[in-house]
Amino acid sequence: MSNEVRKPIISGNWKMNHNHFEAIQSIQKLAYLLTKEDFVAVDVTIHPPFTDLRSSQTLIDADDLQFILGAQHCHEAESGAFTGEVSAQFLAKLNVHYVIVGHSERRQLFGETDEQVQQKVVAIQKYSMTPILCVGETLADREAGLTHEKVLGQVRSALAKRSVEHVRSMVIAYEPIWAIGTGKTATADDAQRVISSIREEVSKISSPMAASAIRLQYGGSVKASNIVQIMSQPDIDGVLVGGASLDSAEFARICQYRLRTA
Ligand code: 13P
Repeated sequence: MSNEVRKPIISGNWKMNHNHFEAIQSIQKLAYLLTKEDFVAVDVTIHPPFTDLRSSQTLIDADDLQFILGAQHCHEAESGAFTGEVSAQFLAKLNVHYVIVGHSERRQLFGETDEQVQQKVVAIQKYSMTPILCVGETLADREAGLTHEKVLGQVRSALAKRSVEHVRSMVIAYEPIWAIGTGKTATADDAQRVISSIREEVSKISSPMAASAIRLQYGGSVKASNIVQIMSQPDIDGVLVGGASLDSAEFARICQYRLRTA
């Protein structure tokens, strides 16, 4: 079920790193390292903290750069008494195109529920932005043999009531929680197995057409040294990179993985 041509998508999630001065420097450095051909071959999305979005977008526009601006999170409501939160409509006004939703750090540290994640997906798509929906199991889930149940349950819940058009344009990132920031990666085969089961689930709950169009990423300790193997898997269309995206040279090498494939 991996026959449709899907453009690879490499995303850098900076998490709570880089102030807006550092963001500008990182984007400039990355722009210097990547070529026009790289952007033809892959979509590159960058997800800085909220405070960096405006200056990042100004730089991207002024220098006509090909990076696609992303955010790390948003609130599901339009506006209101939610101190400290930012809504999808505010992000859209800043020319944000991709929004990470349901990251395991948000689920675990900030108590985001499956229901909120589902509402955020709706809010993001209402403003014509693309959700990058994160799903993944804990080490305990994995050891109990519950990986598929946990991951597919998160997928089913987040995609509930979405049209085929909505589903086909989304990105889902499979990020096993035990592999995030730990230096441990799922083996490429293992990641492929879970990701292909996500594609099958999308086919069942939405349609085969949506399943063959939706782009599926792997995330968790992705580096320049393991990207080629990860991207060689038939159902893996991209990666969501944390730590290694903070180093522009390393991230550029990840974006240029195709130059090192046989
Ligand atoms: P690391 O690449 O640092 O493991 O982080 C993965 C991640 O959480 C990306 O969203």
